[in-house]
Amino acid sequence: MSEVALQSRELRKTYLSKGAPAVRALAGVSLEVRRGERVALLGRNGAGKTTFLRIASTLLRPTSGSIQVFDVDVDRHPERVRPYIAVVPQEGKPFFHLTPREQVYTYLRARGLGRETAKARTEESLERMGLLESADRLAITLSGGQRQRTMVATVIATEAPLLFLDEPTIGMDPFARRSVWESLRELTRRGSTIVLTTHYLDEADALSQRLYIIERGQVLVSGTAEDLKRSVGGTLKVHLPEGARAIDAFRGFGSCVADGPGLTVIVAPERLGELMATAVGRGLTATVGPVTLEEAFLNVVGRSIDDD
Ligand SMILES: Nc1ncnc2c1ncn2[C@@H]1O[C@H](COP(=O)(O)OP(=O)(O)OP(=O)(O)O)[C@@H](O)[C@H]1O
Ligand SMILES: [Mg+2]
Repeated sequence: MSEVALQSRELRKTYLSKGAPAVRALAGVSLEVRRGERVALLGRNGAGKTTFLRIASTLLRPTSGSIQVFDVDVDRHPERVRPYIAVVPQEGKPFFHLTPREQVYTYLRARGLGRETAKARTEESLERMGLLESADRLAITLSGGQRQRTMVATVIATEAPLLFLDEPTIGMDPFARRSVWESLRELTRRGSTIVLTTHYLDEADALSQRLYIIERGQVLVSGTAEDLKRSVGGTLKVHLPEGARAIDAFRGFGSCVADGPGLTVIVAPERLGELMATAVGRGLTATVGPVTLEEAFLNVVGRSIDDD
C-alpha cells in the first residue's frame, strides 16, 4: 500500500446554485497525509474543511484540481476509494430505529466483514466508546453525546485504512473525548490514517501530529502544533492583570494584547527574566504560562484577517 494516504493538488470547489451567487469554498488546496499520520484540519466556520472532506470521501465532486487516496484518483474511481475509507460526517446521526449494537454490527456487515469479526469488533468498539450500558436502546432514546459516540464507534470499528472525522467529538463530555483520542491513537499505531477537523484546539494539540489551517478555501499554515506556537514569536505568555497602562514598556518583548486593564505579552523564554524585571520595576504582578494552540491560532488567523 502506498505510503501516501491522501494527496490533493490545487483542489478547487465552487458551489453553484440557481438564483444564488456562486460560493468559492475551496480555492486551491494542496496537502499530503502520510500513512499512519493523525492530521487535523483547523479553520474558522465556512473555511472549507467539510467541503474538502466531502470531496476526499467521494461524496462531492471537485470543480478542478486532483485528489488521490492511496494513489487512486478519487474523482475518477470513487468506487475503488470507498473500501479504503470510513467517514464521520459533520452533524451525522445514527439511524433512529437501530440500537448502537445493531448500527455498528450492520455497518460492518455491509462493508463485507464476516459475522465473527463483525461481532467481536462491535463489542470492542462499543466498550471503547463507553456504550455497553446503552448498546441495546434505540438511538432515538439516546442522549446527544451518546448518539455522537455511536457515530464514532461505528467508524472506529471499521479499522479502515483512512478515517475522515468531521468534528467527531462535538457534544461529548471530557471523558468521552479522551476515549476517542485514545481509540484514534490506537488505530494509527495499527497503521490506519486519521484526518479530522475540530474547533477544540486542545483536542488538535493532544491528538494531531500535524495540522493544516484552512482559511477562505486555502491552506494558510501547515506544520506541527509546536511550529505554530513558535511562529507567534515566543512560547511563553505573561499575563499582567494591571499591565495595560504600561503597554509601551512591553511592546519590545513581543506581541502585546490589552484586555481591559490586563495585558498579555507573548515572549521567548530567553527574554522572560528581563520582562519580569521590567514588571517588578513598575510594581506589576505577573503570571507566566505556555502559549496554547488556541492563542497561536487566534494570532495567526487574526493576522491573516487583518491583512485583507
Ligand atoms: N451545498 C452548498 N451550497 C452552497 N454553498 C455551500 C454548500 N456547502 C457549503 N457551502 C459554503 O461553502 C463554504 C465552506 O463551507 P464548509 O462547510 O466547507 O466550511 P467548514 O470549514 O466545514 O465550516 P464549519 O467549521 O462551520 O463546519 C461556506 O461559505 C459555506 O456556506
Ligand atoms: Mg464543517
